Amino acid sequence: MKKIYKNMPKDFLWGASTSAFQVEGGYGEGGKGISTTDVRNVPEGIADSKIASDHYHHYEEDVKLMKELGINIYRFSFCWARIMSDGWNVNEEGLEFYDDLINRCIENNIIPFPTLYHFEMPQKLVEEFGGWKSRKCIDAFEKYAKVCFERFKDRVKYWGTINEQLIVSAASDLNGNHESDQNQKMKNMYQMSYNMSVAEKKAIKAIREIIPEALVGPVCSMQVIYPRTSAPEDIIAANDAEDMLQNIFLDMSVKGKYPKRCENYLKLKNYYPETMEEDKELLEKYVPDFIGVNYYASTCIRVREEGEDVSKLPPFFRNELFTLGNNEFLQKTRWMEFGIDPSGLYLGMRKMYERYNLPMMVTENGMAYSEELVDGKVHDEYRIEYLKAHIEQCQRLVEEGYPLLGYCPWSLLDLVSSHQGFSKRYGLIFVDRTDIDIKECRRIPKDSYYWYKNVIANNGIYFE
Ligand code: BG6
Repeated sequence: MKKIYKNMPKDFLWGASTSAFQVEGGYGEGGKGISTTDVRNVPEGIADSKIASDHYHHYEEDVKLMKELGINIYRFSFCWARIMSDGWNVNEEGLEFYDDLINRCIENNIIPFPTLYHFEMPQKLVEEFGGWKSRKCIDAFEKYAKVCFERFKDRVKYWGTINEQLIVSAASDLNGNHESDQNQKMKNMYQMSYNMSVAEKKAIKAIREIIPEALVGPVCSMQVIYPRTSAPEDIIAANDAEDMLQNIFLDMSVKGKYPKRCENYLKLKNYYPETMEEDKELLEKYVPDFIGVNYYASTCIRVREEGEDVSKLPPFFRNELFTLGNNEFLQKTRWMEFGIDPSGLYLGMRKMYERYNLPMMVTENGMAYSEELVDGKVHDEYRIEYLKAHIEQCQRLVEEGYPLLGYCPWSLLDLVSSHQGFSKRYGLIFVDRTDIDIKECRRIPKDSYYWYKNVIANNGIYFE
């Protein structure tokens, strides 16, 4: 018989997520500098982030829609280049934009929850010293974080540091790692990631001084890894993948050191980053308050056969230790090619709690689909089904006593996908534009919006 879980506690945070380069637009407006995401090579016919969902001009309406939806937390990100156009000097107009957004959220009883770094930085910093490749980026990030903390300290309690360090590292070329020598590229990638970890800790140190009551945490791309078979070499490959894709980043964020397996690997491959003596104390001393969890699907991993060509797979799902397998037990769709796996959310967070013992918040979880308006509406029953199944797992976690602070589906509204434009949509609210025709970016709530509104009002899935 299907188990029915209790609804959420009264203080549970129901939210929704976006990120700056994916919704804002406002390219070159209000003193915004050029972001790394503004200069990437977007193929012809796919939307870029120059207008995106035009949130920069629609944010008042967007906050009203949030209020109407009933969310009590809004997870978004600051665009570093809007706040500091060249990475060093403060752009007052950029801060004012976020002042207004934050104030409107608060007036509507919505907790503002910004992430400092969601895939983008001022392009100037890449030109000046190669972005995260240089330790100068640690100083720049610390300065930027302090500007944000000082400005918003009276209004912002929840903070995210870095969104998905795995993806930032894997797509390091978007942040200036243009090395053609593969070995050097890998070495740079781990150096960039290490510098990010030090920068994150400097930000946590600063927030403890500037906003002692703040709650701060990294946002990870949770890796729920299943071995392809029960063959011991597949199991080891799956364990390696878990270490190299998740623990390597989160252990740094929480424990301030690499897992032994990763340390060995980095040394063996000569990828071990350059460190400074003083980093050690910083890394170990400043522990986050919670972990933000982005989860879309689990990953199936198998051992890599000798001589096997895996060059077509995404770079982070293959190395000499492991490669991607196929999980035939999961239902797949065009955009959800790994399959749909709500139990993975439960299992992954359970394991995460055992390893780190910190409260968690679902910061992203959603279903992508290509959609159009039909008679002025979007009937996205597939998304409702996806969200329902995942919220149910959240209720299961809470009922079993795991500290889950909140749930923020991705995304509040349709936005530019990280690299697949506007034909891949995740929103609860439809944004009326296509990859090539920007129209007026009208907002139209989808069926999932009304369904989620009901979930929030009932404080959980309402069981008939
Ligand atoms: C996460 C990111 O990786 O997944 C988001 O934090 C991203 O920025 C989301 O949009 C979905 O990925 P994609 O590639 O479908 O946009």
